[in-house]
Amino acid sequence: MNVEKLTCFHFRNYETMSFSFVPKCIHFLYGKNAQGKTNLIEAIYFLSHLRSFRTNQMDSMIMHGCNEFCVQAIVESNHRKEELKVIVDHQKKHLFRFQNPVKKYSDFIGIENAILFCPDDLSLFTSSPKNRRRFIDMELMKLSRTYTSTLSSYQKLLKQRNQALKQSNIDECLVQIYLDQMIEVQSVIIKQRNEFLNSLMNKARELYPFFSNEKEEIGAKYMTFIPIDPDMKSHMKEAYDKVFEKEKRYHQTLIGIHRDDILFELNENPVCEVASQGQKRSFVLALKLGLAQIIYEKSGQYPILLLDDVFSELDDFRKRQLIEKLPRDMQIFITTTERLNINWNREVRFYDIEKGRIKEVLK
Ligand SMILES: Nc1ncnc2c1ncn2[C@@H]1O[C@H](COP(=O)(O)OP(=O)(O)O)[C@@H](O)[C@H]1O
Ligand SMILES: [Mg+2]
Repeated sequence: MNVEKLTCFHFRNYETMSFSFVPKCIHFLYGKNAQGKTNLIEAIYFLSHLRSFRTNQMDSMIMHGCNEFCVQAIVESNHRKEELKVIVDHQKKHLFRFQNPVKKYSDFIGIENAILFCPDDLSLFTSSPKNRRRFIDMELMKLSRTYTSTLSSYQKLLKQRNQALKQSNIDECLVQIYLDQMIEVQSVIIKQRNEFLNSLMNKARELYPFFSNEKEEIGAKYMTFIPIDPDMKSHMKEAYDKVFEKEKRYHQTLIGIHRDDILFELNENPVCEVASQGQKRSFVLALKLGLAQIIYEKSGQYPILLLDDVFSELDDFRKRQLIEKLPRDMQIFITTTERLNINWNREVRFYDIEKGRIKEVLK
């Protein structure tokens, strides 16, 4: 998959910008601090996920003093062109595909499939479980539309059940009706999340040694409130029966997949307790490239890879090692503040970014 052309209007510090990029090529985005390198990566990421990786406030992406922004791209996907556009005014997104409005986010997310690696990703191991669930959910949403709808029906049912539990006179029959449906969708979601994590770890385990000096074993476990086996639904029924009295007192649903987590491990110890910064970086890199591999196997094409600010933290050997591990067919964007003097052994292009403007340079 390739972004052939990107257009931004009133997006962060880009007033109007329209630029063509080269398929399967590495694009180095150079520039001093605060010039708009990450903003450009953010625009490509936004078209893929309909959210930013830096903020939950969509307003903050609108250029100061303006009322809306627009990000648009022509994307090549499996030899077909896609034309995508998102306009964001205060708090509302308007989606278009070939100029036609798209109503459901699930019909838009993942048409352009981008994977990001940025320094903040190392917090995957230390931040709240919500971020780890989001990591898996975002990827599954890009890969499967049914996942998106199953997940949103769970969220809707959870809300309805909590609403029913909030009443002073709880209608237990209604609470049970919601629960029966919740158990059905949860068993699907747990299975999908768990299988996805296992196949991702199989890929990541193969890649990890390329980024690490030592011989650590990496692992990950999906943590939920019941054992993951063919009897999941009856385990759930039991678990909810046990907790029901307490739920009535607390007036809310106390267990469920909205509290699940992933435990990442290094030599069978929690990563957050034992790993160095370097080991965490190697782990995340292996996860992200493993992800690219899974996407390739499912869709027949590599995603677009966005590497924000991570290059400067690697020595020249690691930089080469990383680039050599990246599939030749993958279009890549790398932001960096320093010029690099390395023979890359594949097609590379260089761009200067200054005050929200981009121009191609020779080196
Ligand atoms: N909503 C906005 N409107 C105008 N400028 C913005 C907005 N958000 C961020 N900026 C500007 O974008 C610049 C930072 O861009 P960024 O891409 O993060 O820099 P870098 O090149 O270091 O990656 C700063 O100058 C900041 O003031
Ligand atoms: Mg930046």
